[in-house]
Amino acid sequence: MKIPVRVAANPYDVVVARGARHDIPALITQRAPRARQVVVLVDEAISSQPWFDIEGVIIPINGGESSKSLAYVEQVANDLSRTGVTRQDILVAVGGGATTDFVGLLGALYQRGMPVINVPTTVAGMSDAAIGGKTGVNIAAGKNLLGTFTQPAGVICDLDTLSTLPPRDAVAGEAEMVKCWLISQRPTSDYLTADFETRLEHAISLKAQIVAADEREGSTRALLNYGHTLAHAIEAQFFDGDDAPRHGEAVAVGLVFADMLAASLGRCDVSRVASTREVLRQLGLPVSLPAQLDLEETVSFMRRDKKAHGGLTFVLTGDHGCEVVAGIDDALVRGCLDTFMEESR
Ligand SMILES: NC(=O)c1ccc[n+]([C@@H]2O[C@H](COP(=O)([O-])OP(=O)(O)OC[C@H]3O[C@@H](n4cnc5c(N)ncnc54)[C@H](O)[C@@H]3O)[C@@H](O)[C@H]2O)c1
Ligand SMILES: [Zn+2]
Repeated sequence: MKIPVRVAANPYDVVVARGARHDIPALITQRAPRARQVVVLVDEAISSQPWFDIEGVIIPINGGESSKSLAYVEQVANDLSRTGVTRQDILVAVGGGATTDFVGLLGALYQRGMPVINVPTTVAGMSDAAIGGKTGVNIAAGKNLLGTFTQPAGVICDLDTLSTLPPRDAVAGEAEMVKCWLISQRPTSDYLTADFETRLEHAISLKAQIVAADEREGSTRALLNYGHTLAHAIEAQFFDGDDAPRHGEAVAVGLVFADMLAASLGRCDVSRVASTREVLRQLGLPVSLPAQLDLEETVSFMRRDKKAHGGLTFVLTGDHGCEVVAGIDDALVRGCLDTFMEESR
């Protein structure tokens, strides 16, 4: 399956198939015909997996959230310079969302910009992170606060790579796919009966369509932040801890909360909250607030959210589907959080 991402400057395809990694050399010939070197930056945790046979100069890098720092970008840029790679060459990023976010930023900055092919190896990466051109690393003040909009030269989703993904990460990645399903106003019961490839294809197609219409998140792209206002606040509180939730786990809780808020504003029926919660629960995702969450801190973080313009901002469902709703009353949000926390105990 090949899904086009029709961004204005450099359109590209997302290829999804078993064994798709074998298409990488042909894609390189097409996208970087003058390349003399291919540098493969791979999450070191997966470089010894049996499916990892991608050819090029291999640079294993740290994976996961802790690798997403500007200091580490500088360190790996020095490793890159030792390969003698130039702007005509190409980078291949192999790993989860943390790796494609990190390599995306490295590629955007190194010698003022090199092409990067993303080879996502997690469900979150294939359905979301590797597509759309957002690159970034974290700073103490928050996640992804340093980054660029730089589209990849192509995205290769090889389903074979998912064979080694830990179940917790596979399940966490489904949250973004459920998010897309709900944005498209599809019934949640159909999600559970659809096969994995159908769910993935739907998520990629929706994201491709939204990104093509609004590459730099001036309007509709913000819909993809459904569930993310609370998710980011949860992640910020558990950022460095061992008990840090996966991004998708935080998104699952955030989706339930967004629907609770929508119901309390009269934008949807409470049955919507129940069906969202149920599909996420059946997939094995968390649907309640972490008991240790500091609610005061949560509200103040959400008020500072980089996506918020004018008070608390959420993507909420309603009669016309999902919409960005700004300026929601603090007390209402706090009340909903209190209710959610009571239900969660
Ligand atoms: N740029 C975007 O638009 C965007 C969108 C959503 C999420 N993100 C970012 O993506 C990250 C989350 O993505 P993620 O869940 O893929 O995280 P991740 O990259 O940290 O991967 C999760 C874990 O799975 C391991 N792993 C990866 N592929 C594997 C495989 N095939 N087999 C075995 N283990 C494997 C990794 O080593 C890691 O421990 C966050 O940093 C988030 O901010 C970015
Ligand atoms: Zn997300």
